[in-house]
Amino acid sequence: MEPPARAEAVLEAMAVRYACKLFDAERKVDDGTLRLILEAGRLSPSSFGLEPWLFVVAESAELKERLFTACFDQENLRTASFVVAIAVRTERHYAPDSPFVRSRAGRFPGGLPVFVQDYQGYWDYLRANGLVEHWARAQGYIALANMMTAAAAAGVDSCAIEGYREDEVRSVLGLDPQDWRVSVLVPFGYRGETEREKIRESLGSIVLLADNDRNDSRLLTSSQPIN
Ligand SMILES: Cc1cc2nc3c(=O)[nH]c(=O)nc-3n(C[C@H](O)[C@H](O)[C@H](O)COP(=O)(O)O)c2cc1C
Repeated sequence: MEPPARAEAVLEAMAVRYACKLFDAERKVDDGTLRLILEAGRLSPSSFGLEPWLFVVAESAELKERLFTACFDQENLRTASFVVAIAVRTERHYAPDSPFVRSRAGRFPGGLPVFVQDYQGYWDYLRANGLVEHWARAQGYIALANMMTAAAAAGVDSCAIEGYREDEVRSVLGLDPQDWRVSVLVPFGYRGETEREKIRESLGSIVLLADNDRNDSRLLTSSQPIN
């Protein structure tokens, strides 16, 4: 059976997306498209549905220049149309009795008591193992991926940016370190360079079929060329 056209469209967007290192600084992304990209972030799933993020949008030349410096002089920060810093809350916000968890949990059927029945054990585990902020930061990458794919579908280029000095980014964007960690940054715009070739392993080399009764030749022998 052929996959539905909309599934093909998602893969197509993923295939055309590439890490854009230099944008055309003269071209701006229009407001409707900017909003569509942010909407893809908003619709992203998060652990326990907590939506731990804040999408901080920087558009002015001054902010982009300062982010460029905070990101080890990566040109795509200052040539972008806009930059989104995906910030996530610090550890204290995720305690089961915190105002943040109360407010998020209150939206779900059964409210806080039902939510905490599920959440408490995992929270205790994360805390005991020093994993809370790692867990929170990981959520940001889901929004990142969805925003980049949505942007690509709209013909907008992007590049995930992990190379940044966190304190400096927070200070440029006015984020209080008591409350926020920076998960990842992503500049968006229209390319001002030639796109690079996509280099990926074949499915056969990165997928392990753990069930022996699966006919792996059907799934893995015809690896699709990308682009
Ligand atoms: C989480 C993450 C962080 C990244 N950080 C940077 C970065 O700081 N600077 C950069 O030039 N590229 C960065 N990249 C881009 C990757 O190098 C790039 O996605 C990878 O080489 C694959 O190439 P493609 O995206 O063009 O397919 C990052 C990518 C990801 C997913």
